[in-house]
Amino acid sequence: MSDTHILVEQPENGSGILVIRFNRPDKKNAITEPMYHRMTEALVGANRDDAVRVVAFLGTDGCFSAGNDMGDFLAYAMSGSDDVPAAARFIKALALAEKPLVAGIDGLAIGIGTTLNLHCDMTIASSRSVFRTPFVDLALVPEAASSLLAPRIMGHQRAFAMLVAGEGFSAKAALEAGLIWKIVPPETVEAETLAVAQSLAAKPPQALKIARNLMRGPRNEVLERINEELVHFSLQLKSAEARAAFEAFMRR
Ligand code: COA
Repeated sequence: MSDTHILVEQPENGSGILVIRFNRPDKKNAITEPMYHRMTEALVGANRDDAVRVVAFLGTDGCFSAGNDMGDFLAYAMSGSDDVPAAARFIKALALAEKPLVAGIDGLAIGIGTTLNLHCDMTIASSRSVFRTPFVDLALVPEAASSLLAPRIMGHQRAFAMLVAGEGFSAKAALEAGLIWKIVPPETVEAETLAVAQSLAAKPPQALKIARNLMRGPRNEVLERINEELVHFSLQLKSAEARAAFEAFMRR
């Protein structure tokens, strides 16, 4: 990967905000294995670094992320590999994050671009944002503990419509479903997200961390679900039906 596909901006002048930015706009910020590695490293580092009080995910103009890179999906499907995909390590790092996570979304949020919000505490989205998880259309299954967290947050029917039926959710529908906190105009997403992060980062750090952990609850249940999903996800990734779906996308 180019080192610039994920930009990690360390806290400046005591701001306390670590920014993880998707920055592969020519591919709609689709996430490759090295990009997952970089984000995992940043999240794990944030847990240990007292200078980091809040982690903010941002994308680029009109695009948060189109989810996992389809070429990587296809390569994994054809490799016969049993290695744990880099995405799995990233998802676990998300679930084990100890500092508040915020996200600023403008435009496309697909696959993990949507499900990572289930681990975020405050998401600000532009009015033109669309959230979509076409897992089953790709012959895959929900990931990132979304099969557990989405029904809890959104209720079964809306979660099913999103995760299984693959229905797209507008920013308004996502707000109504409790998936995001606030809708703002596209041009202010970034400023508003950083303002939210700033106000959290200015709070007493110990209380902030404890409050977040209390609200997130024990992680075991979430990690167990991630592992359960991963068993199915990995098997489905190598299935003929998934391979056909990835090949169809690559051929377009
Ligand atoms: N993996 C790899 N490349 C991707 C990608 C992905 N997930 N999503 C988009 N891209 C690439 C396209 O192949 C295209 O590359 P090219 O210019 O070299 O041909 C480029 O990004 C622009 O995408 P394009 O499809 O032309 O833009 P669009 O605005 O018409 O559609 C999407 C955007 C995101 C709706 C569409 O690309 C799409 O459906 N992507 C797949 C999303 C997905 O299913 N992700 C996995 C979820 S589990």
